[in-house]
Amino acid sequence: MLEQLQELEAKALEALQGVGTTEALEAWRIRYLGRKGELTVILRGLGSLPDAERPAAGREANRVKTALEQAFEQKAAALEQQEMARQLSEERIDVTLPGRPVEPGHLHISTRTLREIYAIFAEMGFQVYESPEVETDVYNFQLLNIPPYHPARDMWSTLHTTREGVLLRTHTSPGQIHAMREYYPQPIRIILPGKCYRYEQVTARHESMFFQVEGLAVGKHVTMADLKGVLTHFARKMFGAERKVRFRCSYFPFTEPSAEVDMDCIICGGQGCRVCKNTGWVEILGSGMVHPQVLRNGGYDPEVYSGFAFGMGPERIAMLKHGIDDIRYFFANDLRFLRQFA
Ligand code: PHE
Repeated sequence: MLEQLQELEAKALEALQGVGTTEALEAWRIRYLGRKGELTVILRGLGSLPDAERPAAGREANRVKTALEQAFEQKAAALEQQEMARQLSEERIDVTLPGRPVEPGHLHISTRTLREIYAIFAEMGFQVYESPEVETDVYNFQLLNIPPYHPARDMWSTLHTTREGVLLRTHTSPGQIHAMREYYPQPIRIILPGKCYRYEQVTARHESMFFQVEGLAVGKHVTMADLKGVLTHFARKMFGAERKVRFRCSYFPFTEPSAEVDMDCIICGGQGCRVCKNTGWVEILGSGMVHPQVLRNGGYDPEVYSGFAFGMGPERIAMLKHGIDDIRYFFANDLRFLRQFA
């Protein structure tokens, strides 16, 4: 029995030398130390030994068992080391490789244009005032001197909500009333940017959603000369110092007198081209002196106060400035378009 044990020990240790993987090691463990392994088989024979031989055989059996178990542990640890070293070398990350570039985002052309407009008016002391996109008929029309059923309503194709008298604002002008009611009796110098909505057939020149930037100045000595000065300055800041502007008589129910502002065509310099339809002029905004009734509706006495207002479409401004020929590009989210304004 003693010899058998020693032979087994020698055989097992030799076999262990050749073990190179964790799978092979597990097979080795089952073969020699497992419940049906060779050592166990020998140990089972202990009981049938004569009494005199049994203690020595038992001791030797334990020694061999411990020796094999230790050898097993050592091998397992060595294999684990090897495996780790392999992983470390094979899966090493080269931290000196250059990183993958992150594509930076950029502002949408509408946002960029709005911010240019804000900056120009900020220099002239205009603050940004925001007002709701969902409006009442009263604010969008009636307080702006447009009673129900008045033919002037045809100027704004309106998107109504299912709630009677509640609509999507067709222009930023209702913000004039909100601002006047909030600021009375202080003087006012604000611009009111925001989205507007119209029930329009969408074409290259019309969208059902678009931005407007309204302007409003109210005070005791505001004149039409101020209106002309401010808007001329705006056109020159936005489109170049050499710009010429002209004020053309127009009609809006909430301004009196009213004027539309044209600028000499930046494409042809006034010679006449497709953009200006051969007139040499392009319209950039609507404006006028705040109608006395509108001042009154805002809480300001028209005998004491006066004001001017204007409204422009920043998409239209951007189209002229960047030679964009279709307003639908702005909100179609086509990256080929948007990326040109990075
Ligand atoms: N609200 C007008 C429009 O949408 C523009 C405008 C604003 C005209 C202020 C005059 C004064 O057409």
